[in-house]
Amino acid sequence: MEKYVVSGNKKLYGEVTISGAKNAAVAILPATVLVKDKCIIENVPAISDVTILFKILEGMGAKVRFLNASTVEIDTREINEAVVPYELARYMRASYYFLGALLGRCNEASVSMPGGCDFGVRPIDQHIKGFEMLGAKVSIEKGMINAKAEELEGGHFQFEKVSVGATVNVMLAAVKARGLTVLENAAKEPHIVDLANFLNSMGADIRGAGTDTIKIYGVDILHGTNYSIIPDQIEAGTYMTIAASAGGNVLIKNVIPKHLESISSKLMAAGVEVIEYDDSIRVIREGQLKAVNVKTMPHPGFPTDMQPQMTALLCLAEGTSIVTEGVWDNRFRYVDELRRMGANVQVDGKIAVVQGVSAFTPAPVKACDLRAGAAMIQAALSTDGVTEIEDIQYVERGYENIIEKLTGLGANIRKVEMPDPNLLTSAG
Ligand code: EPU
Repeated sequence: MEKYVVSGNKKLYGEVTISGAKNAAVAILPATVLVKDKCIIENVPAISDVTILFKILEGMGAKVRFLNASTVEIDTREINEAVVPYELARYMRASYYFLGALLGRCNEASVSMPGGCDFGVRPIDQHIKGFEMLGAKVSIEKGMINAKAEELEGGHFQFEKVSVGATVNVMLAAVKARGLTVLENAAKEPHIVDLANFLNSMGADIRGAGTDTIKIYGVDILHGTNYSIIPDQIEAGTYMTIAASAGGNVLIKNVIPKHLESISSKLMAAGVEVIEYDDSIRVIREGQLKAVNVKTMPHPGFPTDMQPQMTALLCLAEGTSIVTEGVWDNRFRYVDELRRMGANVQVDGKIAVVQGVSAFTPAPVKACDLRAGAAMIQAALSTDGVTEIEDIQYVERGYENIIEKLTGLGANIRKVEMPDPNLLTSAG
């Protein structure tokens, strides 16, 4: 077991380069099983979620070969297994994208109920209804989700709730279904568009991704492709709030500024200078942060995956900010950890009232989930002492080389091995 040890009170200066998008990668890698060919995927982030997907792919008979640190060739010609077992699915949500992809490839799939961050109940009813609309029979037995169809046939489906995961999964299953599929009330996140672009580069015919109506004209045959994943919107946003919180002047490179607009505008309202270039963004913070209200919404609204980092920033702003979580039922669990560091935040259901304090104080804390872990690092960098953060495996699911990237900006953060609790004996 390892933990982060962070010394705060240093402004950050320099440049940081953003990696490929986690939430695009975790959809695109399973999507490669739709084709019986080789795909070369570039800009793949080196994070543990991606490592698990490679294990799942190899377990099915795919061949995964790194061409360099961020480029991988996946050969899916000899996939002989349409099952994702519990041992691997338990670690990550996106393992359920193999349901849509395998249904599309061989009309059947069996995937263990997925794991992932705990934000309250995470239903999959919209995935199942979408598969059923395409003609699949879906059952859940002994913790496995089983989907099977004689033949998939396109149809018209309106999601009852905007869902990234359900949009991805139904899109994957529909690519090779007979005829036209129309998905309404679809998610519009950048990774939905990236997945559609990837599938189209393999010969799919998907139109309208990025709007709330996606049309998928089924095709019989797909071919291998060479595709580069978009930069990670949330990793970029996280370095923006970290720079804003610590203060200083940071250039964040390899970003799509359009994807960051909702984050940039809230940071500017909070008194942070944000300068956009073609494919980079500069964040400068010198003066006092100001309170702002934030409500998370599906794209193009303020992303829920930036909510903990934005809340941690507003803990240091002058005045009272209201943060409303508009996507998940229970995404404020980490606030208890921020309170341990001196934050003044009251939570009532999906609303947090943040009363600014002048600084965080060091305390031992834990990462409750991926983005909460990023918020802990951000808070720790704004204390005048040393903070230890445990449960860092969550952070490493989604942030490539976070220690190296922060150290490159002048932050003082390192990873240390924790003593094995089983070896600790009580003294005296
Ligand atoms: N929902 C349903 N029924 C469904 C599916 C979802 O009611 O069948 C509800 C959820 O309970 C939630 C809302 O719809 O209230 C949105 O959930 P969504 O399906 O969009 O979330 P997801 O696909 O499980 C992805 C990201 C999350 C991100 C959300 C929202 C991936 C792998 N995960 O999750 O990212 O918070 O979209 O943008 O793409 C993260 O990266 O830290 C992360 C948690």
